[in-house]
Amino acid sequence: MSLQGLECVRSAIAFPWQVKRMTAVTRLPHPVVKFIIAKLSETQSMERIYIKPTDRVFVLTGAGMSAESGIPTFRDTNGLWRNHRVEEVASPDAWRRDPQFVWEFYSMRRMDAATAHPTPGHRALAALERTLGSRLFLCTQNVDNLHEQAGSRPLHMHGELFKSRCERCRVPFDDANIYHEVPRCACGGKIRPHICWFGERVFGVDRVRRTLEVSTVFIAIGTSGMVEPAASFVGQTKARTFYVGPEEPLNLASFDETFTGKAGELLPTLFDVG
Ligand code: OAD
Repeated sequence: MSLQGLECVRSAIAFPWQVKRMTAVTRLPHPVVKFIIAKLSETQSMERIYIKPTDRVFVLTGAGMSAESGIPTFRDTNGLWRNHRVEEVASPDAWRRDPQFVWEFYSMRRMDAATAHPTPGHRALAALERTLGSRLFLCTQNVDNLHEQAGSRPLHMHGELFKSRCERCRVPFDDANIYHEVPRCACGGKIRPHICWFGERVFGVDRVRRTLEVSTVFIAIGTSGMVEPAASFVGQTKARTFYVGPEEPLNLASFDETFTGKAGELLPTLFDVG
């Protein structure tokens, strides 16, 4: 059977009303058809990511995921770390030295993110999560809430911009306020952004490790591969690994395949769910 013929099988499955015209092809027993489709899709993986019915998918997103929403990345030209020193705004030392300055930085980021909207890329991941259910795990380094706005339920390993927590009570709560002075909790403790700063332990690390072990597809999107522990995830999984973004990440050599382009443009047509 020619490849063109196999393409017809796929169309027949996708558009059942055409099945009557596919007489020769539709006489194949169902499991055989499924097997052929799976094989065909594997050979097409240069264009799309085929997700088998048994696959468990781990998606890792970084700042590039939200770049098209107008939220600055960290290391690109005009990135946040080009204009701010990490150790002055995103470290426990900075917080001890000048908490008001730290709050000014995160208040500015809250303002940037408050008016941002999800892209077609965020929506494509949310649609994939609806299709795969618990077979998809979305882990983001982003602190904005664009994945949630699109309908996803991500693990925020670096915390959440629109949450704060008291240093003493430690319980995070929703907070979109802009602060010019350091806010205080009823207990007297200082309230800080609910963000994982450099030198602190990322959130959900045990869940991430467990999920990496059972994942069969790993997709990293819009992350430079420079920051641990996320940069090492691709090397810790036996899954088929894919990178999506306009530039090569630092850990490129660990990926099986790359899709070069913007997340908002590539993701809507990238997934082929079997
Ligand atoms: P970076 O700023 O290091 O990298 C952003 C990546 O996104 C780059 O590789 C870009 O090529 C890519 N990119 C840009 N536009 C894109 C688009 N439209 N679609 C897809 N990709 C695009 O950001 P991260 O790797 O996310 O941590 O940085 C990781 C962590 O370092 C951040 O979470 C932050 C930072 O310091 C903390 O603040 C704790």
